[in-house]
Amino acid sequence: MDYRKRMEFLAGELLRHQHLYHVLTRPEIGDAEYDRLLDELLLLEKRFPQFASPNSPSRRIGSDLDNAFPERPHAVPVLSLDKLYRPEELGQWLLKTAAAAGSSVGFAIEEKIDGASIVLYYDRGELQYALTRGNGLLGNDVSDNVRTISQVPLRIDEPSRLAVRGEIYIKRGDFERYNSGVAEKYANPRNLAAGSLRNLKSALAARVPLNIFVYEGFFPVPSSGTFRAGPDIPGGGNAGRDHLEILQRLRELGFRVNPHLGFFSDDEAKRRRALQLFPDSTAAPLAAVEEYVRRQAAIRAEVPYDIDGLVVKVVEMDVRQELGTTAHHPRWAMAYKFDSPQAQSELLDVQVQVGRNGRVTPVALLRPVALSGSTVTRATLHNQDYIDMLELGIGDEVSISKRGDVIPAVEEVLEKSERHPGIYKLPGQCPFCRSPLLKEGAHHFCKNEACPERRRRALIYFCAKEQMDIETLGEKTIAFLFAKGWVQSPPDIYSFDASLLAGEEGFKEKKIARIRASIELSKSRPFARVLAALGFEGVAAAVAGDLIAHGLDTIDKIIAAAQKNDWQVFAAIEGIGETTARLLIGHFSKPENLQLIARLKAAGLKFAAEKTESERLNDSFAGQVWVITGSFAKFIPRSLAAEEIEKRGGRVSENVSSRTTHLLAGTSPGSKLAKAQKLGIVIVDESEFLARVHKNSSLRFVAK
Ligand code: IVH
Repeated sequence: MDYRKRMEFLAGELLRHQHLYHVLTRPEIGDAEYDRLLDELLLLEKRFPQFASPNSPSRRIGSDLDNAFPERPHAVPVLSLDKLYRPEELGQWLLKTAAAAGSSVGFAIEEKIDGASIVLYYDRGELQYALTRGNGLLGNDVSDNVRTISQVPLRIDEPSRLAVRGEIYIKRGDFERYNSGVAEKYANPRNLAAGSLRNLKSALAARVPLNIFVYEGFFPVPSSGTFRAGPDIPGGGNAGRDHLEILQRLRELGFRVNPHLGFFSDDEAKRRRALQLFPDSTAAPLAAVEEYVRRQAAIRAEVPYDIDGLVVKVVEMDVRQELGTTAHHPRWAMAYKFDSPQAQSELLDVQVQVGRNGRVTPVALLRPVALSGSTVTRATLHNQDYIDMLELGIGDEVSISKRGDVIPAVEEVLEKSERHPGIYKLPGQCPFCRSPLLKEGAHHFCKNEACPERRRRALIYFCAKEQMDIETLGEKTIAFLFAKGWVQSPPDIYSFDASLLAGEEGFKEKKIARIRASIELSKSRPFARVLAALGFEGVAAAVAGDLIAHGLDTIDKIIAAAQKNDWQVFAAIEGIGETTARLLIGHFSKPENLQLIARLKAAGLKFAAEKTESERLNDSFAGQVWVITGSFAKFIPRSLAAEEIEKRGGRVSENVSSRTTHLLAGTSPGSKLAKAQKLGIVIVDESEFLARVHKNSSLRFVAK
C-alpha cells in the first residue's frame, strides 16, 4: 500500500467529516465509523511520522508537549476599533460617514463577540499560523491550540495566501459547566477562551469547547511588504468583492460566519442583494439603524454566547480604502459597546510582589481614578498568563471595573501605548534576592527559602490577627526588627531581647512593655492557630482544623503521620485532597520545618489541642482499627457504621490484617470473620456495637 497516499486520503476524509459535523451540523457517518478512520490515521502517523501533515486532523487532539508561543509579525494590519456608547452617537457617525463616502454606501452591523481575537493565515490551502492580535504588528503563535478547535478549517480550497480575522469564544452554558469542574475559576467566558488559547498544553486546550466566528478576510495576502487592502493589489486581492461577498466566500471555504447580520443602505438594490446573500439578515435604510441597535442591545442575552456590542462596517472595499485609517482605527468601522466602562486609567508600572511561599504576584500601579466611591490606584494582575491574556503593557490605557463591587480589576486594554509597545513580562529574577523565578502552573515562584522578602512576609503572616494575633507587631515594627537583624524568623520573636529597643526612636518604655506582653499572650493561642501560623502552603486554618478534628491533634501525631510517607493517610480525612496530603508530607518531614517547630515548642507555644470534656468522650474508639463485614439491620448502608467509628477517633480499613483491632460482623460475614478469628481479633456484633456507640452518644443514624 502507498501509505503516504492512504494517510492523505484519511486526513482529507476526517477533515471533511469534522466540518460536516461541527460547522454544518449534518454528519454523514456515525461516531464509530469516524473513530475507525481516526484510529487508522493515528496508527499510520506513529509508523510514518515523516508523512504526517502539520494540519492532520490528529492535531485536533492536541499534545502534551509544552507550547512556546513565539512572536510573529502580522502580514495584515490588525487594527482595533474606535468605540461609542450611545445609539444616537452611532447614528450620527453613520450619517457623517455616509456623507463622506457618497450616499449609496452600505453598512454591515455584526455582533461584537466577546472572546479572544485571532488571525488565521493560510497558504496554498493549508493553515499556516494562528496569531493573537498582540500589539497589532506582532502576535503570539498559538497555532497548536487553535488546531484543536474543530470549527477552524485546517485545509481550505483556496490556493492563494489568505488571512482571516475572527473571534474565539465559548458559550455561556459550556463556560458554567467547565468552571464548575476546575479549581481555579475563570471570571467570565472571555477569560476562559483567551486563557485556553494560551494553554501550555494543546491537549488541555482541546478539552475546552471553543467556537469561532470569522468576520474579516484578506484575499490574498502579499508574501512580504506592507499589506494594502483594496482593489489595487496585484492578483486581484479583495478586488471586486465587497464585505458581504467576502463573508460569503469565507462561508463557502468552510469558515463559520455569524448569520446574525444587519445591512443598512439607502440603495434599494444593495439591500435586495444583501438579503440574497444572507437571507436571515435584516436589511433596511440608514434611518433605521438607531432603532436596530437599541433592539439588539435589548435582546443580547438571546444568543448563547456573550456579545459586548455591535460592530458597524462600511461594506464597499473602495470606500474603505478612501476613508483610510487613523494610527489605530479604521475610519470605516465603529464599535458600539453595550456597557460603558466603569473607569479608564493608565498602567503606570507593574509591582512584583513575592509572597511568603514564594509565589509572585504582579500588581498594576494605575493612574489614580475614582470608581464607585473610592480611588483606585492598584489592581492585581494575578500572573503572567493573565497579563498575556489582556495583552497588557506599561503605558496602555485600560478599563477598570470593580468585581463584586470591591476588588478592582483590569478588564481590558483600551489603547496600546505608543511609547512602550508590547506586553509586560515578569523579570527573570526575584527583585528581592535575585534568584531565578520559575514557572509552576499559572504562577511564577521565587524558590529561595532564604529570600528576605519571603521571610518578611512569613513574619507578617505569623503575627497577623488571624494567626498569632500579636497586636503590637504590625508591618512597620516587623520591618524594623527585621532590618535590625533581631527577628529573622518566627522563633526569634520569642527569644530576641526586647530591651534592645530602648533608646530606639519610637520605642518608649511603655510601648516596649506592651510588646513584651502581647508576645507573651500569644503563647496561649490554641494549637489550630499555631499550626496555621507556621505558614506552610496548603495548611491554613481550615486544614489545621480538619487535622485536629480527625485525631491528628498534636504536632507529634502529625509528624508521625507524615513519616509514613503515604498521602492516603491524610487524604482519608474529609476536606483534604491528594494535593494537600502530599504537601503535608513534604512540610512535616522537612528538617528546616521540624527545627522551626522545635524552636517554637521550646518557646512555649501550644503544639497540642486542648480537649473539651465532650471531645474526650468522643475519642472512645481512638487507636482502634475496624473492619466491617456482613449486613446489618440498622446500618444501611454500612458506611453509617464506619462514620460512627471515625467520629469517635477510630479508623476503618477494608481488609483484615495484623493491624486490625476489631471486626464488626453482621449477618453472613464471609471469610473475613474466619480470618479475624484466626488472628485473635475482637469480634463485635451489631447489638454489642450499638451498646459501645451508645455509651457516648449523640447517636444519629438512620434506623430503617
Ligand atoms: S472587526 C478593522 N468584527 O473586537 C476591523 N471585530 O477592537 C477590526 N470583535 O479586536 C475588527 N467581533 O477582537 C470586528 N464582528 C466583529 C467582531 C470584532 C468581535 C473584536 C475583535 C477586535 C475588537 C475590536
